Amino acid sequence: MAPPDHTPGAKPPGQSDSATRPVRVTVPALQAMAHEGRRIAMLTCYDASLAAQCDAAGVDALLVGDSLGMVIQGHTSTLPVTVADVVYHTRCVARGSQRALIIADMPFGSYQASPEVAYAASVEALQAGAQMVKLEGGAWLAPTIEFLVRRSVPVCGHIGLTPQSVHAFGGYRVQGKSDAAADAVIADARALGEAGCGLIVVECVPRLLTPRLESAAGVPVIGIGAGPECAGQVLVIYDALGITPGKPARFVRDFMKDAGSVGAALAGYVGAVRDRSFPGPQHCF
Ligand code: KIV
Repeated sequence: MAPPDHTPGAKPPGQSDSATRPVRVTVPALQAMAHEGRRIAMLTCYDASLAAQCDAAGVDALLVGDSLGMVIQGHTSTLPVTVADVVYHTRCVARGSQRALIIADMPFGSYQASPEVAYAASVEALQAGAQMVKLEGGAWLAPTIEFLVRRSVPVCGHIGLTPQSVHAFGGYRVQGKSDAAADAVIADARALGEAGCGLIVVECVPRLLTPRLESAAGVPVIGIGAGPECAGQVLVIYDALGITPGKPARFVRDFMKDAGSVGAALAGYVGAVRDRSFPGPQHCF
């Protein structure tokens, strides 16, 4: 059988090659989308039922986020999440999804100590059904990213506000606000792009930084609280469906409002990312 064609101009990623089985979205396909100026819609996902709904709505990538520690397990941070938790939820998502790229978020303590430790945890995630792993951290993580990429583990970076560093930051705060802090986030983006990241999530930075980030990274930047100029957007799915308790963060939009069904809300999210109506100025820093 011929391999799926993900070159620019080919059929959209994830479109069915046969009547029965959709082609799974790949990292090169997302890079081609960004190259063509088509926005990438990513959501977190932790279970099979919502994974199937996301596929039907056209979500491009599903992040099995360590936010599961907060929205599924009820912790006050992501720090208690284990590799076993991420592996379990990745298996659930992989059973429900046939189309979206699945990214497993490597939890606190599973990759920081050494490239070898990161590789062992990443192998578990890929064997559970992920096609990519996500690691939080800047330039200091470049040797680990290179180590993984050379061993065929696709890596998504995560810079700006990295929630696993909540105690080091002293809270969940917007990053890159001063000139020096902005330069540091840009340097992180460059280091991660050069180390071989295929995508980079950037969380909670002033939107004015995004064009510099995109050009420094050289790969698609997926924003959460980083402005509409990013190549793609990601939200925690429970935030997008308006079911996270408490006051939502500034960058959140409740797509369930007026949608009528979960499917319509998810399709509304994808549509708003694609036509660039989300995030609006009220969601930016
Ligand atoms: O775990 C998560 O949900 C994340 C997103 C905030 C990007 O890392």
